[in-house]
Amino acid sequence: MPPRKIIIDTDPGQDDAIAILLALASPEDLTVLGITAVAGNVPLPLTQENARKVCELAGFPETRVFAGCDAPLKRPLHTAEHVHGQTGLDGPTLPAPTMPLQDQHAVDFIIDTLRAEPPGTVTLCPLGPLTNIATVLQRAPDIAGRVQEIVLMGGAYFEVGNITPTAEFNIYVDPEAADIVFKSGIPVVAMPLDVTHKALVTKARNDAFRALDTPVGIAVAQMTDFFERFDKEKYGSAGAPLHDPCVTAYLIRPDLFSGRHINVEIETGSELTLGMTVADWWRVTDRPANATFIGDLNAQGFFDLLTERLARL
Ligand code: RIB
Ligand code: CA
Repeated sequence: MPPRKIIIDTDPGQDDAIAILLALASPEDLTVLGITAVAGNVPLPLTQENARKVCELAGFPETRVFAGCDAPLKRPLHTAEHVHGQTGLDGPTLPAPTMPLQDQHAVDFIIDTLRAEPPGTVTLCPLGPLTNIATVLQRAPDIAGRVQEIVLMGGAYFEVGNITPTAEFNIYVDPEAADIVFKSGIPVVAMPLDVTHKALVTKARNDAFRALDTPVGIAVAQMTDFFERFDKEKYGSAGAPLHDPCVTAYLIRPDLFSGRHINVEIETGSELTLGMTVADWWRVTDRPANATFIGDLNAQGFFDLLTERLARL
Protein backbone atom coordinates (compact mmCIF):
# COMPACT_ATOMS: atom_id res chain seq x y z
CA MET A 1 0.00 0.00 0.00
CA PRO A 2 1.60 3.32 -0.99
CA PRO A 3 1.73 6.09 1.62
CA ARG A 4 -1.44 8.18 1.83
CA LYS A 5 -1.06 11.72 0.47
CA ILE A 6 -2.24 14.32 2.95
CA ILE A 7 -2.42 18.08 3.50
CA ILE A 8 -2.43 19.10 7.16
CA ASP A 9 -4.43 22.27 7.89
CA THR A 10 -3.50 23.48 11.33
CA ASP A 11 -3.43 26.13 14.08
CA PRO A 12 -0.44 25.05 16.24
CA GLY A 13 -1.16 24.59 19.22
CA GLN A 14 0.80 21.98 21.13
CA ASP A 15 -1.54 19.16 20.13
CA ASP A 16 -1.35 20.22 16.48
CA ALA A 17 2.43 20.12 16.82
CA ILE A 18 2.37 16.53 18.05
CA ALA A 19 0.02 15.56 15.23
CA ILE A 20 2.46 17.06 12.72
CA LEU A 21 5.43 15.29 14.35
CA LEU A 22 3.61 11.95 14.17
CA ALA A 23 2.85 12.49 10.49
CA LEU A 24 6.42 13.46 9.58
CA ALA A 25 7.71 10.46 11.54
CA SER A 26 5.58 8.06 9.47
CA PRO A 27 6.76 8.24 5.82
CA GLU A 28 5.78 4.63 5.15
CA ASP A 29 2.16 5.60 5.93
CA LEU A 30 1.83 9.28 5.06
CA THR A 31 3.21 11.69 2.48
CA VAL A 32 2.75 15.25 3.69
CA LEU A 33 2.21 17.29 0.52
CA GLY A 34 2.10 20.49 2.54
CA ILE A 35 1.06 22.13 5.78
CA THR A 36 -1.42 25.00 5.67
CA ALA A 37 -1.78 27.33 8.64
CA VAL A 38 -5.05 28.91 9.74
CA ALA A 39 -5.95 31.38 12.50
CA GLY A 40 -7.30 29.56 15.55
CA ASN A 41 -5.54 28.83 18.80
CA VAL A 42 -3.48 31.97 18.15
CA PRO A 43 -3.47 34.47 15.25
CA LEU A 44 -2.17 33.43 11.83
CA PRO A 45 1.30 35.03 12.09
CA LEU A 46 1.94 32.73 15.06
CA THR A 47 0.30 29.58 13.68
CA GLN A 48 2.35 29.73 10.48
CA GLU A 49 5.55 30.36 12.43
CA ASN A 50 4.75 27.57 14.88
CA ALA A 51 4.13 25.15 12.02
CA ARG A 52 7.59 25.92 10.69
CA LYS A 53 9.17 25.59 14.15
CA VAL A 54 7.65 22.10 14.43
CA CYS A 55 8.87 21.02 10.98
CA GLU A 56 12.40 22.08 11.92
CA LEU A 57 12.15 20.36 15.31
CA ALA A 58 11.20 17.19 13.41
CA GLY A 59 14.19 17.60 11.08
CA PHE A 60 12.05 18.31 8.00
CA PRO A 61 12.88 21.93 7.03
CA GLU A 62 12.03 21.13 3.40
CA THR A 63 8.35 20.76 4.27
CA ARG A 64 6.24 23.34 2.46
CA VAL A 65 4.29 25.53 4.90
CA PHE A 66 1.65 27.99 3.67
CA ALA A 67 -0.28 30.74 5.44
CA GLY A 68 -4.05 30.73 4.94
CA CYS A 69 -7.02 32.64 6.31
CA ASP A 70 -6.45 35.02 9.20
CA ALA A 71 -10.10 35.25 10.31
CA PRO A 72 -13.30 33.18 10.17
CA LEU A 73 -15.67 33.54 7.22
CA LYS A 74 -18.15 35.82 8.95
CA ARG A 75 -17.20 36.27 12.58
CA PRO A 76 -14.41 37.79 14.63
CA LEU A 77 -11.59 35.43 15.53
CA HIS A 78 -11.66 33.77 18.94
CA THR A 79 -8.27 32.49 20.09
CA ALA A 80 -7.19 30.16 22.92
CA GLU A 81 -4.11 31.61 24.57
CA HIS A 82 -5.66 30.57 27.89
CA VAL A 83 -5.01 26.98 26.82
CA HIS A 84 -1.93 27.14 24.59
CA GLY A 85 -0.09 30.21 25.95
CA GLN A 86 0.73 33.51 24.29
CA THR A 87 2.88 31.91 21.58
CA GLY A 88 0.43 29.08 21.00
CA LEU A 89 3.33 26.68 21.57
CA ASP A 90 4.30 27.44 25.16
CA GLY A 91 6.26 24.79 27.05
CA PRO A 92 9.47 24.19 25.11
CA THR A 93 11.69 27.00 23.86
CA LEU A 94 11.94 26.39 20.12
CA PRO A 95 14.19 28.55 17.94
CA ALA A 96 12.74 30.96 15.41
CA PRO A 97 12.35 29.09 12.12
CA THR A 98 14.90 29.52 9.33
CA MET A 99 12.90 27.55 6.74
CA PRO A 100 10.83 29.79 4.45
CA LEU A 101 7.10 30.34 4.48
CA GLN A 102 5.76 29.63 1.00
CA ASP A 103 4.59 32.68 -0.94
CA GLN A 104 1.42 31.03 -2.24
CA HIS A 105 -1.76 31.42 -0.18
CA ALA A 106 -2.79 28.17 1.52
CA VAL A 107 -6.18 28.15 -0.20
CA ASP A 108 -4.57 28.39 -3.63
CA PHE A 109 -2.07 25.66 -2.70
CA ILE A 110 -4.88 23.31 -1.71
CA ILE A 111 -6.87 24.05 -4.89
CA ASP A 112 -3.85 23.67 -7.17
CA THR A 113 -2.72 20.47 -5.45
CA LEU A 114 -6.15 18.84 -5.57
CA ARG A 115 -6.43 19.72 -9.28
CA ALA A 116 -2.94 18.38 -10.02
CA GLU A 117 -3.23 15.09 -8.13
CA PRO A 118 -5.43 12.25 -9.42
CA PRO A 119 -9.00 12.56 -8.08
CA GLY A 120 -9.61 10.76 -4.81
CA THR A 121 -5.95 10.48 -3.85
CA VAL A 122 -5.46 13.36 -1.40
CA THR A 123 -6.81 13.49 2.17
CA LEU A 124 -7.35 16.81 3.92
CA CYS A 125 -6.52 16.80 7.65
CA PRO A 126 -7.93 19.91 9.35
CA LEU A 127 -6.75 20.32 12.95
CA GLY A 128 -8.18 23.80 13.58
CA PRO A 129 -11.08 25.99 12.50
CA LEU A 130 -12.29 24.99 9.03
CA THR A 131 -11.92 28.42 7.44
CA ASN A 132 -9.27 27.43 4.87
CA ILE A 133 -11.15 24.31 3.79
CA ALA A 134 -14.47 26.10 3.45
CA THR A 135 -12.83 28.89 1.46
CA VAL A 136 -11.38 26.28 -0.90
CA LEU A 137 -14.85 24.82 -1.45
CA GLN A 138 -16.42 28.24 -1.96
CA ARG A 139 -13.74 29.38 -4.41
CA ALA A 140 -13.43 26.08 -6.31
CA PRO A 141 -16.56 23.92 -6.00
CA ASP A 142 -14.97 21.31 -8.30
CA ILE A 143 -12.56 20.41 -5.49
CA ALA A 144 -15.27 18.62 -3.50
CA GLY A 145 -15.29 15.80 -6.02
CA ARG A 146 -11.51 15.43 -5.95
CA VAL A 147 -10.89 15.01 -2.20
CA GLN A 148 -10.37 11.42 -1.01
CA GLU A 149 -11.55 12.15 2.54
CA ILE A 150 -11.53 14.83 5.21
CA VAL A 151 -10.25 13.54 8.55
CA LEU A 152 -10.65 16.35 11.05
CA MET A 153 -10.49 17.13 14.74
CA GLY A 154 -13.63 18.92 15.82
CA GLY A 155 -17.01 18.73 17.48
CA ALA A 156 -18.46 17.04 20.51
CA TYR A 157 -21.65 15.21 21.44
CA PHE A 158 -21.63 13.31 24.74
CA GLU A 159 -18.68 15.42 25.88
CA VAL A 160 -20.43 18.69 24.90
CA GLY A 161 -18.39 21.89 24.73
CA ASN A 162 -14.91 22.96 25.77
CA ILE A 163 -15.21 26.62 24.76
CA THR A 164 -18.96 27.11 25.40
CA PRO A 165 -21.40 24.78 27.17
CA THR A 166 -22.30 23.25 23.79
CA ALA A 167 -19.45 23.80 21.33
CA GLU A 168 -15.94 22.53 20.72
CA PHE A 169 -13.36 25.20 19.86
CA ASN A 170 -12.54 24.39 16.20
CA ILE A 171 -16.20 24.33 15.20
CA TYR A 172 -17.15 27.27 17.42
CA VAL A 173 -14.53 29.62 15.95
CA ASP A 174 -15.95 29.24 12.43
CA PRO A 175 -19.34 27.49 12.47
CA GLU A 176 -20.25 28.67 8.97
CA ALA A 177 -17.07 27.06 7.63
CA ALA A 178 -17.86 23.84 9.46
CA ASP A 179 -21.39 23.89 8.02
CA ILE A 180 -19.95 24.14 4.50
CA VAL A 181 -17.56 21.24 5.12
CA PHE A 182 -20.13 18.92 6.70
CA LYS A 183 -22.59 19.65 3.84
CA SER A 184 -19.95 19.30 1.10
CA GLY A 185 -20.66 15.64 0.33
CA ILE A 186 -16.97 14.83 0.90
CA PRO A 187 -16.49 11.76 3.13
CA VAL A 188 -15.78 13.14 6.61
CA VAL A 189 -14.24 11.39 9.60
CA ALA A 190 -14.59 13.54 12.73
CA MET A 191 -12.51 13.19 15.89
CA PRO A 192 -14.71 14.94 18.50
CA LEU A 193 -13.96 15.57 22.15
CA ASP A 194 -15.87 12.33 22.82
CA VAL A 195 -12.76 10.43 21.71
CA THR A 196 -9.97 12.97 22.20
CA HIS A 197 -10.78 13.31 25.88
CA LYS A 198 -9.89 9.62 26.17
CA ALA A 199 -6.38 10.22 24.76
CA LEU A 200 -4.90 11.68 27.93
CA VAL A 201 -1.20 12.18 28.57
CA THR A 202 -0.93 10.62 32.00
CA LYS A 203 2.30 11.09 33.96
CA ALA A 204 3.54 7.67 32.83
CA ARG A 205 2.93 8.60 29.19
CA ASN A 206 4.61 11.97 29.64
CA ASP A 207 7.55 10.23 31.31
CA ALA A 208 7.79 7.93 28.27
CA PHE A 209 8.06 10.97 25.98
CA ARG A 210 10.78 12.46 28.17
CA ALA A 211 12.59 9.12 28.42
CA LEU A 212 13.17 9.23 24.65
CA ASP A 213 15.83 11.73 25.68
CA THR A 214 15.78 13.40 22.28
CA PRO A 215 14.99 17.03 21.43
CA VAL A 216 11.61 15.87 20.09
CA GLY A 217 10.78 13.67 23.07
CA ILE A 218 11.72 16.37 25.57
CA ALA A 219 9.86 19.09 23.64
CA VAL A 220 6.71 16.96 23.45
CA ALA A 221 6.89 16.29 27.19
CA GLN A 222 7.25 20.05 27.80
CA MET A 223 4.34 20.83 25.46
CA THR A 224 1.98 18.46 27.22
CA ASP A 225 3.22 19.53 30.66
CA PHE A 226 2.16 23.05 29.70
CA PHE A 227 -1.18 22.57 28.03
CA GLU A 228 -2.58 19.99 30.44
CA ARG A 229 -3.40 22.77 32.93
CA PHE A 230 -6.62 23.83 31.22
CA ASP A 231 -8.16 20.36 31.10
CA LYS A 232 -6.92 19.35 34.56
CA GLU A 233 -8.54 22.43 36.08
CA LYS A 234 -11.76 22.22 34.02
CA TYR A 235 -12.37 18.49 33.85
CA GLY A 236 -10.07 17.05 36.50
CA SER A 237 -8.42 15.15 33.66
CA ALA A 238 -5.51 12.80 34.29
CA GLY A 239 -3.47 14.74 31.72
CA ALA A 240 -3.48 16.73 28.46
CA PRO A 241 -5.94 15.45 25.83
CA LEU A 242 -4.16 14.79 22.55
CA HIS A 243 -6.95 16.06 20.32
CA ASP A 244 -5.21 16.54 16.97
CA PRO A 245 -2.84 13.53 17.06
CA CYS A 246 -6.00 11.38 16.94
CA VAL A 247 -6.35 12.50 13.31
CA THR A 248 -2.84 11.40 12.35
CA ALA A 249 -3.04 8.16 14.34
CA TYR A 250 -6.36 7.31 12.66
CA LEU A 251 -4.73 7.63 9.24
CA ILE A 252 -1.96 5.25 10.32
CA ARG A 253 -3.96 2.79 12.46
CA PRO A 254 -7.73 3.20 11.96
CA ASP A 255 -8.21 -0.05 13.87
CA LEU A 256 -7.38 1.84 17.07
CA PHE A 257 -10.61 3.85 16.72
CA SER A 258 -14.35 3.17 16.62
CA GLY A 259 -17.41 5.27 15.82
CA ARG A 260 -20.64 5.50 13.87
CA HIS A 261 -21.56 6.80 10.42
CA ILE A 262 -24.27 9.29 11.28
CA ASN A 263 -25.75 12.66 10.47
CA VAL A 264 -23.89 15.63 11.93
CA GLU A 265 -25.18 19.15 11.49
CA ILE A 266 -23.72 22.43 12.73
CA GLU A 267 -25.58 25.07 14.70
CA THR A 268 -25.07 28.42 12.97
CA GLY A 269 -28.25 30.29 13.97
CA SER A 270 -28.60 30.22 17.73
CA GLU A 271 -26.10 32.24 19.74
CA LEU A 272 -26.91 29.97 22.70
CA THR A 273 -25.69 26.81 20.96
CA LEU A 274 -23.53 28.33 18.20
CA GLY A 275 -21.02 25.83 16.82
CA MET A 276 -22.66 22.78 18.37
CA THR A 277 -22.21 19.56 16.38
CA VAL A 278 -25.71 18.11 16.47
CA ALA A 279 -24.72 14.47 16.10
CA ASP A 280 -27.60 12.05 15.48
CA TRP A 281 -25.74 9.29 17.36
CA TRP A 282 -28.99 7.41 18.12
CA ARG A 283 -30.30 7.91 14.57
CA VAL A 284 -33.56 9.42 15.75
CA THR A 285 -33.97 11.44 12.57
CA ASP A 286 -34.03 10.53 8.90
CA ARG A 287 -31.31 13.04 8.13
CA PRO A 288 -28.74 11.37 5.85
CA ALA A 289 -25.45 10.19 7.36
CA ASN A 290 -22.63 12.54 6.36
CA ALA A 291 -19.81 11.76 8.79
CA THR A 292 -18.06 8.97 10.64
CA PHE A 293 -18.19 10.30 14.19
CA ILE A 294 -15.52 8.65 16.32
CA GLY A 295 -16.44 7.86 19.93
CA ASP A 296 -13.70 5.61 21.28
CA LEU A 297 -10.09 4.52 20.90
CA ASN A 298 -7.56 2.04 22.24
CA ALA A 299 -5.71 4.68 24.27
CA GLN A 300 -2.67 2.61 25.18
CA GLY A 301 -2.32 1.43 21.59
CA PHE A 302 -2.50 5.07 20.51
CA PHE A 303 0.24 6.14 22.91
CA ASP A 304 2.42 3.13 22.05
CA LEU A 305 2.20 4.11 18.36
CA LEU A 306 2.87 7.77 19.09
CA THR A 307 5.87 7.13 21.34
CA GLU A 308 7.40 4.58 18.96
CA ARG A 309 7.09 6.99 16.00
CA LEU A 310 8.36 10.04 17.91
CA ALA A 311 11.45 8.00 18.81
CA ARG A 312 12.33 7.99 15.10
CA LEU A 313 12.79 11.78 14.92
O1 RIB B 1 -10.94 21.80 20.90
C1 RIB B 1 -9.65 21.28 20.63
C2 RIB B 1 -9.13 21.81 19.34
O2 RIB B 1 -9.03 23.23 19.42
C3 RIB B 1 -7.71 21.31 19.01
O3 RIB B 1 -7.55 21.24 17.62
C4 RIB B 1 -6.84 22.39 19.58
O4 RIB B 1 -5.57 22.47 18.93
C5 RIB B 1 -7.66 23.61 19.28
O5 RIB B 1 -7.41 23.97 17.92
CA1 CA C 1 -5.69 22.49 16.58
